[in-house]
Amino acid sequence: MRNLKQILGIFLMMLYAVSLSASERTIQISKHYLNLPIVEEGTQHKLTFSENGKLLTWCRIRLARKGETPTYWMFYDVRASQGKTVTLTYEGEADCLEGITQSDEWKGEKETYTEAYRPQFHYSARRGWINDPNGLVYYDGEYHLFYQHNPFGVEWGNLNWGHAVSTDLIHWKELPEALEIDETGEMYSGSAVIDYENVSGLGSKENPAMLAFYTLQGQHGQVQCLAYSLDKGRTWTKYGKNPIIDTAMKGGTWHNRDPKVFWYAPDKHWVMVLHEKDGHSIYTSTNLIDWTYESHTPGFWECPELFELPVDGNPSHTKWVMSGASGTYMIGTFDGKRFTPESGKYYYSTGYLYAPQTFNNIPASDGRRIQISWGSIRHNGMPFTGMMLLPVELKLVTAKDGIRLTALPVKEVEQLLTPVLKADSLTMGEANKMLEGIDTGKSICVKATIRLTHPTKAGVELDGNQIVDYDMNFNRINGIPYSPDDFTSMRLTFDLYIDRNSIEAFFDGGRYSFSNDRKAPAGIRNLKFWSLEELVVESLEVYTIRSIWQAQAAE
Ligand code: FRU
Repeated sequence: MRNLKQILGIFLMMLYAVSLSASERTIQISKHYLNLPIVEEGTQHKLTFSENGKLLTWCRIRLARKGETPTYWMFYDVRASQGKTVTLTYEGEADCLEGITQSDEWKGEKETYTEAYRPQFHYSARRGWINDPNGLVYYDGEYHLFYQHNPFGVEWGNLNWGHAVSTDLIHWKELPEALEIDETGEMYSGSAVIDYENVSGLGSKENPAMLAFYTLQGQHGQVQCLAYSLDKGRTWTKYGKNPIIDTAMKGGTWHNRDPKVFWYAPDKHWVMVLHEKDGHSIYTSTNLIDWTYESHTPGFWECPELFELPVDGNPSHTKWVMSGASGTYMIGTFDGKRFTPESGKYYYSTGYLYAPQTFNNIPASDGRRIQISWGSIRHNGMPFTGMMLLPVELKLVTAKDGIRLTALPVKEVEQLLTPVLKADSLTMGEANKMLEGIDTGKSICVKATIRLTHPTKAGVELDGNQIVDYDMNFNRINGIPYSPDDFTSMRLTFDLYIDRNSIEAFFDGGRYSFSNDRKAPAGIRNLKFWSLEELVVESLEVYTIRSIWQAQAAE
């Protein structure tokens, strides 16, 4: 009996395997997009896109079966395959391929950027999951934001480099994927530089190459690769002799990733900071292709950063900042080959910030150290997940306890602000009276300085939820230890940026910030100060924040 059951089991498994053997559909491409119906539940299967026998990309996806209602639609951009034949091969149920449609619009395009939880002044992808910003670089009037992107689902996986450009760091235009998954594996995080001197030989001095350094997550672990673009990041060629660094060869681990490359002027060489196992390693190169290992600093996880900043704006007194994916950082010196920490490890931001990266090639006339971080915020029921936090300018300041990093939104954000009210020296009652008219259904910025009369608790409430809870007794903001430099002043200064689904708060000139999700209204819509004892609102400014998507939503 048992044997019979076993035989039947094997037979059924074989039947299932046969029914799931890859099915194929060939489409003559005449429109811009292939619309892909996705269901949330079930097993993912491999879907391969190839053009005239050449692999375009592949992903793991849950295509809806015939007659099944999709949870949402994703799309694959086939504008580059016009007039050609694209073959889809799916390792799931055969009828799934039938639901894919070809169209000049992606499903839901008209509603894109106006959806209920669409971030209104933060970057998010039209469709799919995003995580780390990658390859932040300025070139020829454009800021490039590449990022970890799953265009085929709302969860982490299928990692490509998505791409958006902006001329002002605020309004972004999403472009087709920059680096797509290929036969070697997935495109993990990394950075980009402009090779003006053409030391790589991949471009020319007249038309310098944009180089992208990325981690290839392949079958044999993580190796570092190079791709280049000669048309301002629009199309990319993967370097023929990848990988350029294979740490597995020197007994590496599965954790070798996220190369951040920059130019080190004093020694005229390129530097790569690479996360390896227990910290960040330094490699150097003169041609951006051959790299030499130099040193290692333990104590950081993923997404390395290393940059120099003047202290208190003094160009003859600089320090180097090394950080990891959480944004926690050490201050020290760097001689082009080795980072020497001089401080402990500090934080300037908590909450949803992850994988911060700073721009390369910001013009010297600008000189700012501009950073974008992933805001790992989910947007319930939306066909996209995650967003980028506001771009911030980083500075080093001398605080009472030593040198510290500050982060404040770049000045370009101000173009989105429309003043609604401005007042000084108010009692809490007066301030709250003024705030009564504020429509919290809109995106709002609140800038305020409060002075507590007793070292207890005070803060801000939004829609019935406490969004700022400053506890002077315990030195905490929303439970996180924070102590203003000028503690005895009894003051706290803050700028709050309130989006549909998130809140970013910057305290005391950027000494501390947090990013949080925005809770659903707790039965009421309001914006007000609260305090255990009497509170003085020394200054108060409220603005509405314009959507960065207005132009595109109307397109
Ligand atoms: C950080 C990270 C990186 C990696 C990428 C993969 O969020 O784990 O280390 O390259 O995400 O998506």
